[in-house]
Amino acid sequence: MAKNTSFIRWAGGKAWFVPAVHDMIQNLQFNNYIEPFMGGASIFFSLDLPNKAYLSDINGELANTFIQIRDNLDLVTEKLKEYKSDKESYYEIRKQDPVSLIEQAARFLYLNFYSFNGIYRVNSRGKFNVPYGRRSGEFNYDRLERIRDKLQIAEIAERDFGACREYIHERDLVFLDPPYAVSSKSSDNNMFIAYNPTLFSLDDQQRLANLVDYINDVHAYFILTNAHHPEISKIFKDKGEMLEYDRTCNIGGKSAKRGKVQEYIFTNIPGVTRKEAE
Ligand SMILES: C[S@@+](CC[C@H](N)C(=O)[O-])C[C@H]1O[C@@H](n2cnc3c(N)ncnc32)[C@H](O)[C@@H]1O
Repeated sequence: MAKNTSFIRWAGGKAWFVPAVHDMIQNLQFNNYIEPFMGGASIFFSLDLPNKAYLSDINGELANTFIQIRDNLDLVTEKLKEYKSDKESYYEIRKQDPVSLIEQAARFLYLNFYSFNGIYRVNSRGKFNVPYGRRSGEFNYDRLERIRDKLQIAEIAERDFGACREYIHERDLVFLDPPYAVSSKSSDNNMFIAYNPTLFSLDDQQRLANLVDYINDVHAYFILTNAHHPEISKIFKDKGEMLEYDRTCNIGGKSAKRGKVQEYIFTNIPGVTRKEAE
């Protein structure tokens, strides 16, 4: 599989960060891999992991899709091939609320592919409400097969990140990629906007800091990406090396939101220093 690829489009996707992670871990011997904010799991898919992976996210539809791809891909693709790609069919499928987990996964993949810019957004009743966005390409079924193969080593679950503690042991690697607003640099604490039914607040950042303490205590490794914001550096700066990254932000497709964005990266991987990672 080409590096940097996930099988879905996901806000905050970390394809741009893959080379930096590979650099950081090139000399690292680690056991299991844990990714508790998996989203599209770009980093996981870019790695060749010898041991187990624990992937989770608070988004249940997303977690179910990962699970069905791992366990029932033939049935998912069978369903997916029944769906037509025109606008009318899109709104028809968007309206549906299938009971079958396989159908839910097929619908999720379809909507992610044909929705406008691949945004995941639900209304107050939890119903997906992103409009149709025409796609020129075809759905990539071969990639789904490679994704299925990669997922065989993964335990996948819908859960809050706080619950991943029990899977973290000495020398495991934990990749932490919480949601955060694109309007970084603002000193307004309300910058932590949601692109998910759950808001990721400053209290959640504090809970995340406790998890990082735990990771340090058990002598596991972590890489944390976070917003470039004074509150964030205050909370995390003593927990590992603090690095800064510039990257081109491309969330949601509105040109107004595109531009250089700085992010903080925190890590306790030995030998990774500010100079090396820039
Ligand atoms: C920045 S995205 C992760 C993107 C991912 N690294 C990728 O490459 O696509 C953050 C993810 O955290 C999830 N999330 C939000 N709050 C959470 C929580 N309390 N516990 C676990 N996951 C959460 C969101 O559903 C979203 O998928």
